[in-house]
Amino acid sequence: MSDPVRQLIDACEDYLRAFDMDGAREVVDGIARSKGNIAGPLPPQPMPLCGWLDEALQSITEAEGLKRAIGLARPDLRWITYDAYDDTIGSRFPVAHAFASLIGREGHVLADDFELGLFLITPGTLYRDHHHAAPELYAPVTGPHRWRFGTDGPWIETPAHVLVWNPSWAVHATLVTDVPFLCLFGWTKDVHYPAKVVSASDWAVIEAGL
Ligand SMILES: [Fe+2]
Repeated sequence: MSDPVRQLIDACEDYLRAFDMDGAREVVDGIARSKGNIAGPLPPQPMPLCGWLDEALQSITEAEGLKRAIGLARPDLRWITYDAYDDTIGSRFPVAHAFASLIGREGHVLADDFELGLFLITPGTLYRDHHHAAPELYAPVTGPHRWRFGTDGPWIETPAHVLVWNPSWAVHATLVTDVPFLCLFGWTKDVHYPAKVVSASDWAVIEAGL
């Protein structure tokens, strides 16, 4: 693992440590638990196929240490896509997102049942309602973005640096409009179970307006 990736993982831990809330504590514990189990060299993929990483990095406000650490580690990151969904995820999300695992089954640090990484969604994208066994922390470093929780719940807009903690199997959706979405994500357990889409009645209307 390169020094910049090591420093990025440390920067994620420092960033999350500042939030004294459920989810942030679990992810900080997971990072501390996993350190030391270094993977072999990963083939880098520094450019997410969906694009928008430059713009996302430029959109980060505050969190200067984390922003700098992501920039320095960028040549070593491996951006890939999440391919566990079936067609109900829609045609846009598969080409409008990417993630780079830092700790996990295919991370720079190996962990069997914990994931930490960066997650990017391009503007004009509805990440349709879904859920998964893994409890999930999103720590967006760009914003604002919109969220809804539960089936057909109201949309809530939150700025950057407002954390979202999704308990196991809680339904959630993310609406990314003008600003690219870039977050730290953590899955704290049960990472082997794939996420599943949960249908909602308004996808066509929302997506037509993007
Ligand atoms: Fe999720």
